[in-house]
Amino acid sequence: MASVPSLASTVQQRLADALSAALPEAGSADPLLRRSDRADFQANGILALAKQLKGNPRELAAKVVGALDSGAVLKDVEVSGPGFLNITVSDQAIVETLAARAADSRLGVPYADEPGTTVIDYAQPNVAKEMHVGHLRSAVIGAAMVEILEFTGEKVVRRHHIGDWGTQFGMLIQYLVEHPHELDHKDDSAVSGEEAMSNLDRLYKASRALFDSDEEFKARSRDRVVALQSGDPETRAMWQRFVDESKIYFYSVFDKLDMQIDDPDIVGESGYNDMLAETCRLLEESGVAVRSEGALCVFFDDVKGPDGQPVPLIVQKSNGGFGYAATDLSAIRDRVRNLGASTLLYVVDARQSLHFKMVFETARRAGWLNGDVKAVQLAFGTVLGKDGKPFKTREGETVRLVDLLDEAVERASAVVREKAQDLTEEEIAERGAQVGIGAVKYADLSTSAARDYKFDLDQMVSLNGDTSVYLQYAYARIQSILRKSGDAKPAAHPELALAPAERALGLHIDQFGETVAEVAAAFEPHKLAAYLYQLASLYTTFYSECPVLKADTPAQVENRLFLCDITARTLHQGMALLGIRTPERL
Ligand code: ARG
Repeated sequence: MASVPSLASTVQQRLADALSAALPEAGSADPLLRRSDRADFQANGILALAKQLKGNPRELAAKVVGALDSGAVLKDVEVSGPGFLNITVSDQAIVETLAARAADSRLGVPYADEPGTTVIDYAQPNVAKEMHVGHLRSAVIGAAMVEILEFTGEKVVRRHHIGDWGTQFGMLIQYLVEHPHELDHKDDSAVSGEEAMSNLDRLYKASRALFDSDEEFKARSRDRVVALQSGDPETRAMWQRFVDESKIYFYSVFDKLDMQIDDPDIVGESGYNDMLAETCRLLEESGVAVRSEGALCVFFDDVKGPDGQPVPLIVQKSNGGFGYAATDLSAIRDRVRNLGASTLLYVVDARQSLHFKMVFETARRAGWLNGDVKAVQLAFGTVLGKDGKPFKTREGETVRLVDLLDEAVERASAVVREKAQDLTEEEIAERGAQVGIGAVKYADLSTSAARDYKFDLDQMVSLNGDTSVYLQYAYARIQSILRKSGDAKPAAHPELALAPAERALGLHIDQFGETVAEVAAAFEPHKLAAYLYQLASLYTTFYSECPVLKADTPAQVENRLFLCDITARTLHQGMALLGIRTPERL
């Protein structure tokens, strides 16, 4: 009986089903099918099964081969080595399966079996401060994870845990109280992000200078912190002005990054202020935290300083102040209890790993995190300069994120202009932004997050190699073929024999759904980038070996157009999950 491929089934799954059917005694044992260089797939599961059934693996393998329904999927199977199966699938199975997936707007990518609720903490810059490359990584990796998880059916709640609280606001607010016009705008509607940031920067520097040189101002600033924490309305209103001014800046940068951030999702440190005292009380009452030299601390057997002394997590300082840890613990309570999180995902710099390890452990001891809730830090490494040292300007200052983005867009525009044949200036500018921002995002996403990576714009906008531009060109080239195809329309022809490059391309496209599922489960967007790069490379080979519009027969033209089209749709969907545009023309 010819099996009818379901939308979500892949060639690999159909093959696995056929193998299971051939050997009923295997029950639900995994045939361990893998893509292979020798044939299309290799099945290694028979070894373990033979052990379990106390049989000879080669004999068992031969039995499977004898019983396999040659059906529509299989072309060739042979036993090799101690009892592996090398399997070649039929060309028909490849095209037929892809055709079923092409009919689906999700390209056959299945939803997760048991979707949950992920609260993701990402894109968390600090109020009244510049955004730097570290904020870029959190935003880019976080936004990709949001798209990927939502695509698999997960409910995702975004939380931008911005740094909008702390003692430094005493100094800023006090300065503004004493210089009330420093944040005034001539025309509110026209304030640009850059202007907002330069206002904040000026104010920050001026207040800092006063704070360091004037003891009385320092004292007034400290009183201001108390007023802020106790909710004094005038102080709060002043604080709000800093937050609002900063948001103008943040939004301008996120906009440049082609990234949507929504106001209700910005719940900064201040949002947990009312919970801090209770969080500390609960920790102290349950004995999870203890007083040590006046501070409220949580101790861990395995966390010690260089001197061998335990390093505690300090939830309340001896002067009564609450810090970063108390806020994160309160946020966990809120996210689990009120937002119903089954997963807490933090896209934060690896240098904060010890903090999160201690915070998660404390929350477990306190019972705020139980076995049903997964807490994970998706930790990312440092962005390095070309010289391999942490990214700094020549003067040794941190590089402003906006300057980097502007430069990336500028270089990309030059690349687009050079290649452009029929693009207007306006189109060059638009494509330049899509290519430049895409390049920055892709460079970040294509190395595993935990690793440091070198920020090298020349490499990022290169047309050759593992770059987004290479992928975008592959996509645009396909669109140009599809535009030129005239009356010929993409159509699958499972009856046709495939060239090797067509088979390789088809089998790779077949793995898209599985790749997305793996990437979502392991929080590893770089594997999606790698998948897409390979897709574009296989397409390039196909394109050079298999004429499309000049193929031998009309059916072959249609079938190749079909392969072009599903490649393009897979590239487009995959890049969208990474937050990268695929322009129709380049
Ligand atoms: N604002 C912090 C920074 O710039 C990152 C916040 C991370 N999130 C958190 N829940 N602690 O380093």
